[in-house]
Amino acid sequence: MMDWTDLHCRYFHRLLTRRALLYTEMVTADAVLHGDRTRLLGFSPQEHPVALQLGGSDPAKLAQAAAIGEVEGYDEINLNVGCPSDRVQEGRFGACLMAEPALVARAVEAMRTRVTVPVTVKCRIGIDDQDSEADLERFVRTVAAAGCSTFIVHARKAWLEGLSPKANREVPPLDHARVHRLKAAHPEVEIIINGGITSLDEALAHLDHVDGVALGRAAYQNPYLLAEVDRRLFGERQSPPPRGDVLEALIPYAERHLRAGGRLNNVTRHILGLYHGRPRARAFRRHLSERAPRSGAGIDVLLEAIRIAEGEAEAPPALAAAE
Ligand SMILES: Cc1cc2nc3c(=O)[nH]c(=O)nc-3n(C[C@H](O)[C@H](O)[C@H](O)COP(=O)(O)O)c2cc1C
Repeated sequence: MMDWTDLHCRYFHRLLTRRALLYTEMVTADAVLHGDRTRLLGFSPQEHPVALQLGGSDPAKLAQAAAIGEVEGYDEINLNVGCPSDRVQEGRFGACLMAEPALVARAVEAMRTRVTVPVTVKCRIGIDDQDSEADLERFVRTVAAAGCSTFIVHARKAWLEGLSPKANREVPPLDHARVHRLKAAHPEVEIIINGGITSLDEALAHLDHVDGVALGRAAYQNPYLLAEVDRRLFGERQSPPPRGDVLEALIPYAERHLRAGGRLNNVTRHILGLYHGRPRARAFRRHLSERAPRSGAGIDVLLEAIRIAEGEAEAPPALAAAE
């Protein structure tokens, strides 16, 4: 997710679940080909398994970008056919490609010839007035024939005219049943359902109908949800790591980031929701969001936030009042 699932976020999420597949933000093929690869594609080995999501529509460029992604170590290359932003439409990629299944198929085919890792597609159930069950079927059939065996389907259509990307994640109604029927019609392809899923109970219920579940906002805003994933969805035995242990494990990572010249907030902005629903959640969030963005904020800010959240220290007064 753009601006959310960067490498720091993924490192943190990996401390909560060893098994869930993590995705990068969307990176355009042009950026991969011409941009600063270390900045755009670099990640920690601990993040595996991690999928690189590409945006683009030129099969040759996507193929080249996918090859670079594989060399960088990504475990999967995913093509974005779901993003509805105007900026993306001008470049003729993202959700508007739902109207061009043959082009998506060519892109998938071109990428597959260059990489050995899986090439997958993230799409919507439809766009604009092209949202019949037959349209979605045709899209999946055409793209699957080119060798894409996994589709992550956001269960709501996108309106390309007139709705902002944010509204396009909220306004068109969710239709999970449509995704279930897609799987029933295509048992041979792996269908991962996405959109509006907020708990692991819901995720488990979907797994009666589809092969997997992709969590977006819920996992980001309430990351401790991920701590139960290995046990409840993958059948592993370990109990979830306590929140405090997760943060203890994040400290050396944050220290390395600071030593490399990074800012504390680059890491800690992703952990604000860790205590969601817990007694000192607000104090934890406030401490970090007030202090971590300040220039020169050091690891002590994180250490104090942990003590506050774990009930070992009183929350100091809000910063504006304290100064
Ligand atoms: C801030 C933000 C950024 C997003 N960026 C991407 C992106 O880069 N690629 C993508 O496929 N989807 C992106 N999405 C959409 C989510 O992946 C997901 O499809 C959507 O939010 C619905 O799932 P959810 O209800 O579980 O969040 C983004 C969503 C949000 C909130």
